[in-house]
Amino acid sequence: MKTHVFSFIAAAAIACAMFFADGVTLHRAHAQMLPAQADASDTKLIAKGEYLAKAADCAGCHTAPPGGPSGKEPLHRSAPFAGGLPMGSPFGTIWSSNITPDPVAGIGHYSYDDFERAVREGVAPGNRRLYPAMPYPSFAKINDDDMHALYAYFMHGVAPVSTPAPRTDLPFPFNQRWTLMFWSFAFAPDDVFVPDSTRSPQWNRGAYLVQSLGHCGACHTPRGPAYEERGYDEHARHYLTGGTNDHWFAPNLTGDDGSGLGRISEDQIVSFLKSGHGGGLVAFGSMVQVVEDSTQYLSDDDLRAIAHYLKRLPAREPSGRFDDHSHAALQTVRAMNTGNVELPGAGVYQSFCARCHKADGMGEALRYPRLAGNPAVLGAHVDSLVRLLVEGGEAPHTQAGIEAKKMPPFAGKLTDTEMARVLTFVRNTWGNDASPVTSREVERIRHSLGK
Ligand code: HEC
Ligand code: HEC
Ligand code: HEC
Repeated sequence: MKTHVFSFIAAAAIACAMFFADGVTLHRAHAQMLPAQADASDTKLIAKGEYLAKAADCAGCHTAPPGGPSGKEPLHRSAPFAGGLPMGSPFGTIWSSNITPDPVAGIGHYSYDDFERAVREGVAPGNRRLYPAMPYPSFAKINDDDMHALYAYFMHGVAPVSTPAPRTDLPFPFNQRWTLMFWSFAFAPDDVFVPDSTRSPQWNRGAYLVQSLGHCGACHTPRGPAYEERGYDEHARHYLTGGTNDHWFAPNLTGDDGSGLGRISEDQIVSFLKSGHGGGLVAFGSMVQVVEDSTQYLSDDDLRAIAHYLKRLPAREPSGRFDDHSHAALQTVRAMNTGNVELPGAGVYQSFCARCHKADGMGEALRYPRLAGNPAVLGAHVDSLVRLLVEGGEAPHTQAGIEAKKMPPFAGKLTDTEMARVLTFVRNTWGNDASPVTSREVERIRHSLGK
C-alpha cells in the first residue's frame, strides 16, 4: 500500500504554507449541488476514461486496503475509488477521498468544472484546497479531451459508494487548507501539456503520459526545500534524476550508464512496466504498486512511447558505474567459487543471498533479479536497498502471469554492520562500482523505518 509514500511531500507543503499563515480562518463553503454533465450512453468515452484512470493510478490512492481503513471493516469499505487509504505525515494522517459518484459521500455532485479544478489545480468545490498528496501538479498537464473522458468515467463508469471516507483532521495550523494556496501559487504549474512540434508523435505521446497522467516525477524527481518537485519536464536539470519518498529511492531514469537507464533497452523498459520484469531487473518497493495498478494495463503502443521518451532523456546526475568485462568481476566469481573470499560482505552474500541472486550476481530470468549491472543497485542513495533488505519484498502480480517470487526480510537475521557489508559487496562486485554503505547509514534508515 502507498500508505506513507507522500508523507513528507504533504508535510513540507504544509510547513511551507505555514510560513505565510497569519491565523485567518477561511470557512469551508458548502459544495453546490450541480447536475452531472456527462452522457451515460457514451460508452466509448467512458471506456477511454477507465483506461486513463489506470494510466493515472487513481485507484491506487483512492482505494482503502482490504478490510477498509481499520482493516476490520466489511469488505465493501475497500470498494474501488471509495477512498480511505491512509497516507502518513508527521502531523497526522491524510485520508484519500471517496471519488465514486455518490452525491453525498463522493463526487457525484461535481460539475465538469469542479472536477477539472480539483484534478488540475487541487481545489475542491467550496475552494477547499487539497494537500499535494494528490498529484495535481502533474495532473495539471492532462489535456481537455482526456479530462472529459475521466469525468465521464467517474460519473457513469464507477459504482457509487455511500460510505464517507474518514475525515482528514490534522492539528492546527496544518488544518488551515487555505494556506496551500501559496504553495500552489509558488510551486505547482497549471499549464496543459504542449506538444513539441520538433519531436515525433511517439516522443510526444510518451512525454505526455510520463509528465501528466503517469506522474512519474512525483517519485522519480528529487524535491526542493518546500518538497516541490524540481522540474516537471525534460528542460529541468533535475527532472527524473531520482527521488526518495518514504525510504524508497526511485532511481534516475535519464540516460546515465551507471544508475540510470543508459544500459537498459526500450524493449526491456516496456517489459519491466508491463510485467515487473525486464532486462534482469524486477520491480520492487513502491514501484510494485505502480506496475500492479497502472502500467501493466497500458497498451503496448503507450508503453513503447514511454520507453522511447525515457531513452531520449540526456544522461544527468551520473552515479555508479558498471564494467561488464572488468578483470575484477571474473576474479570475484573465481574467489567466491573457491571459497577464498577476502572482501568483507562476501561471506554474508554467499550464506544469505547467492541461493537466489547466484554467485555471479546474475540472478535467474523471470525469478530473481540480477544484481550485477542493476542500475537500482548502483544508485546514489541506498534507502531502497536497506529498506528492501530489512522488510523483504514481493515481485508484482500482473496479468502477464509470471510467478511473483519473494525476497525474505533480513531484519532479525543480519546486524546493521552485516547489512552494510553485504550491500557494499554487491555494489562493488562483478564490475559494479558504487559508493560503500556504512553501518551508520543502515542504522539511520532502520531507525527512521522503526525497524
Ligand atoms: C498519489 C495518490 C493519489 C493519486 C494517484 C490520485 N489521488 Fe486524488 N486525492 C489523493 C488524496 C490524498 C486526496 C485527498 C487530499 C486532501 O484531503 O486534501 C485526493 C483528493 C481527490 C479529489 C477531491 C475529492 C474531495 O472532494 O475531497 C478528487 C476529485 C480526486 N482526488 C480525484 C482523483 C483522480 C480523478 C485521480 C486520477 C486521475 C486521482 N485523484 C489520483 C491522492 C491521490
Ligand atoms: C510511487 C512512486 C513511484 C512512481 C509514481 C513511479 N515509480 Fe518508477 N520506481 C519507483 C521506485 C521506488 C523504483 C525502484 C525500485 C525498482 O527498481 O523497481 C522505481 C523503478 C523504476 C524503473 C526501474 C529503474 C531501475 O533503474 O531499476 C523504471 C523504468 C521506472 N521506475 C519507471 C517509472 C515510470 C515510467 C513511471 C511513471 C509511469 C514510474 N516509474 C512511476 C517508484 C515510483
Ligand atoms: C529467496 C530468494 C532471495 C534471497 C535469499 C535474496 N533475495 Fe534479493 N531478491 C529476491 C527477489 C524475488 C527480489 C525481487 C523483490 C521484489 O520484487 O520486491 C529481490 C530483489 C533484490 C534487490 C533489488 C533488485 C531488483 O532489481 O529487484 C536487491 C538489491 C537484493 N534483492 C539484494 C539481496 C541481498 C543483498 C540478499 C542477501 C542478504 C538477498 N537479496 C537475498 C529474492 C531473494
